Amino acid sequence: MKIVVFGAGPIGLITSLSLTIWGHDVLCVDLNEQLIERLAKAESDLFEADLKTQLQKYLMLKKLQFGLSTDFDAEFSNIYFVAVGTPTKSDGTSDLTALQSCIKSIVQIPTAHKKTVVIKSTVPVQTNQNLSDMYKKYNVCFISNPEFLREGQALNDALNPDRIVLGHQDEPAIQLLLQIYQPLINNKENKTKVFVTDPATAEISKYASNVFLAAKISLINEISKITAKFDGDIQHVSKIVGADTRIGPEFLNSGLGYGGSCFQKDISAFVNVAAAHDIQLPMISAIETVNQQQLNRFSNLILKNIPENKICIWGISFKPETNDLREASALKIINALLKKNFTLHIHDPELSPEFLQKYAGYLNQKQIMIFKDKYQALNNCSGLAICTEWPEYVNVDLQKIKTHLSHSFIFDGRNTLDNKTATEQGLHYFSLGTHL
Ligand code: UGA
Repeated sequence: MKIVVFGAGPIGLITSLSLTIWGHDVLCVDLNEQLIERLAKAESDLFEADLKTQLQKYLMLKKLQFGLSTDFDAEFSNIYFVAVGTPTKSDGTSDLTALQSCIKSIVQIPTAHKKTVVIKSTVPVQTNQNLSDMYKKYNVCFISNPEFLREGQALNDALNPDRIVLGHQDEPAIQLLLQIYQPLINNKENKTKVFVTDPATAEISKYASNVFLAAKISLINEISKITAKFDGDIQHVSKIVGADTRIGPEFLNSGLGYGGSCFQKDISAFVNVAAAHDIQLPMISAIETVNQQQLNRFSNLILKNIPENKICIWGISFKPETNDLREASALKIINALLKKNFTLHIHDPELSPEFLQKYAGYLNQKQIMIFKDKYQALNNCSGLAICTEWPEYVNVDLQKIKTHLSHSFIFDGRNTLDNKTATEQGLHYFSLGTHL
């Protein structure tokens, strides 16, 4: 089948590639000329395994094309996947400007055929219904088909999803979508579940999934306050609780809390939509409060214990295997320490150029210094704060850390190291689950 994908950002690109891999012909369009030009040459800054090879392969086969959303062949297809950003506005609600403008241009594409618009973007409840009402005079139908992709492993997630959710009010359109996903559904090795439902349920399911994942993190983080008080071990508690198959071990890593572009944005949008309809969501609102508290707990742990205002930070990105800084916990810790006039030595295996721009003033004044070698970064610092659990921080040489630091303080924001081993090696080890 031929499909147009609107949006060449992470979700649009991965959606385009997965549709192509399943045998469809895809034209991925975007307003950003530079982005399109680079993608047409298989160039991308996304940290995704196998992305470049797959892009090269399908571009060469001409199964995947990139173009401008303002100027593409109207006859290419009448199936449009929409995967544009829906960021949070300052009032906590979702900004649907890009989505609205896409839909407007799609409905105006001159073709006699009925158009099927598949919404991949995360949109507030009722968006699909509102679009159907708004464009009922046009020969167009809308299907909600949320994505559940994780940054860094998005292509693998797209090709091997746990579920496909299709929210619709149009039977022929749903048959078309089932045909598009047929290669995936037919593959017996995949355990993908297909849920055909109404648009509101599909939209809510996306938010509910992120709410559950974030809630697991905030729950274990809240429990870490108790292990810290009573000398328990939060990592063991996680393992014990996660061994219950009804709970499961995923998303029980306690530490600095969640960052990234999704959880905070989606929780805020969900709570705001509910509030607009006079529905209070106290539990869901508390997820974000607990997440914020972890940051305050960690910066207080450092401020209370470190002998001098000079610290090394390992790990800046919001999670390992990405250089994405959006809502990264490390940045919030850095800002809190800068306010207290700390000098900071920074190491991250894939430090984003955005960091250099953001902190240019501090870099000029040498209040922040960047290091390529993680051990060199420790020199003359009183302590080390681990903010992102990159694999290279897991098996570290503790004696080397001790030698390079001026005072041997470790603040482990991700429970990366073992408390007992670090203490035995003569380091002053602090984490949110083991010390007040
Ligand atoms: C998340 C969801 O996992 C995806 O299913 C969803 O599609 C995506 O949001 C989205 O809505 O687009 P992502 O933001 O890429 O994906 O990152 P995650 O791997 O879920 O991690 C989010 C944050 O939680 C990271 O900062 C991570 O360090 C933190 N985390 C994760 C913990 O603090 N503890 C854990 O046990 C797991």
